[in-house]
Amino acid sequence: MNKEQLMTEARSVLTNTYSPYSQFPVAAALLLKDGTVIKGVNVENVSFGATNCAERTAIFTAITNGYKKGDFEAIAVAGDTDDFLPPCSICRQVMAEFFEPSMPVYLTNKAGDIKELALKQLLPFAFTELDM
Ligand code: THU
Repeated sequence: MNKEQLMTEARSVLTNTYSPYSQFPVAAALLLKDGTVIKGVNVENVSFGATNCAERTAIFTAITNGYKKGDFEAIAVAGDTDDFLPPCSICRQVMAEFFEPSMPVYLTNKAGDIKELALKQLLPFAFTELDM
């Protein structure tokens, strides 16, 4: 599956977000090495702080389904923003827990352009272990 196809998978759930407070829909599609695609959307909460981002919804669903560190191939993040929609810093930290530093993260904008970044470009000098 190429980056355009994975982004299409992410966009396919962009109408399923629960984002009444921000009116800012975000969707993600996570490609596993076995070819499976797991999607996620942002799910907001009236407390604001209990909100879960699209990327973490997808990653946590993959873990729930038995996938492990090393099983992940790429992630696409979709939104209808003018510029490329960047993952929030909490999501970058969660990505660093499970994804290789070289893993591709595909970003898009409302024009449909796709930018590819390695996770290590989004989160250099990541905190990944306690034994330092
Ligand atoms: N959001 C995501 O789902 N992913 C990101 O990486 C950026 C932010 C969501 C959280 C919240 O529901 C809305 O976008 C506004 O911050």
